[in-house]
Amino acid sequence: MNAVTVRSESVHTALALRAISKFFQTRRLPWQAQPHKRTVAVDDVSLTVQRGEIFGILGANGSGKSTLIRVISTLLLPDHGSVEVFGLDVVRDELRVKQLINRVSVDAAFFKKLSPMENLLYAGRLYGLGKDDAARGGLEILERLGITRKVVFEPMEEMSRGMQQKVAIARALLTSPVLLLLDEPTTGLDPRSKKDVQQLVLSMRHEHDATVVLTTHDMDEADRLCDRVAVLDHGRVIALDTPERLKTAGDSLEDVFMRLTGEEEQAA
Ligand SMILES: Nc1ncnc2c1ncn2[C@@H]1O[C@H](COP(=O)(O)OP(=O)(O)OP(=O)(O)O)[C@@H](O)[C@H]1O
Ligand SMILES: [Mg+2]
Repeated sequence: MNAVTVRSESVHTALALRAISKFFQTRRLPWQAQPHKRTVAVDDVSLTVQRGEIFGILGANGSGKSTLIRVISTLLLPDHGSVEVFGLDVVRDELRVKQLINRVSVDAAFFKKLSPMENLLYAGRLYGLGKDDAARGGLEILERLGITRKVVFEPMEEMSRGMQQKVAIARALLTSPVLLLLDEPTTGLDPRSKKDVQQLVLSMRHEHDATVVLTTHDMDEADRLCDRVAVLDHGRVIALDTPERLKTAGDSLEDVFMRLTGEEEQAA
């Protein structure tokens, strides 16, 4: 378990969302004719994730997945409801929660002139890791993700987007977060890189007792990796169960997704 103490070893609930809602108000300038626009990005979401679970959040573009991840990661404040990470409230205990979680998203920021290793060492320092531990751990993770030693010391700006994505994942795993939030971790990766990342996510759970919440548009990935998935539609949870139970005879998870989100479209 992480150096930051989780309130009690007997805490089995890693994440508890209670009636979470998040709105965005888009303000128009005085001379613009359109009225202010209010978007309900997350609408009354309640769910719990057990310690050690890999939990998937699925949903069409704009259904609220990233917003929900950002609320959990303390980047956004919820407008309604509460979020607890291992019994700690994300608003009241923001600093302690931050030490338990790490988020990877497609818009990960780096020092682009520096190499992956320099970026990892910097992150390790922020989390109190010694230089040698960070370098050793960083190299091991990067290698498991298929990043060759040669590239490890080249500037980030010369790397492809997919490779930068892998460095973002390595950086998040370096500090062995207790709760790992992965927003589309494999989007844009080639098939082998995708497999490497999926394998690493599975081993984080086994080797480091991590709990993982991930979003993905890849239904096979969700089926393979996730113990349970929630399907979001217009910010609401419209299904939540194990992939096996969601799939009825002969259905793939993609069939289930199409049916569920299609029904919602028609009802709207
Ligand atoms: N900063 C923002 N300001 C205004 N509206 C926003 C903002 N961020 C998100 N939204 C809106 O909230 C809704 C949910 O967006 P979100 O990014 O959470 O969706 P998503 O499920 O992650 O989509 P995708 O699959 O495309 O990543 C969308 O309608 C989006 O336009
Ligand atoms: Mg998103």
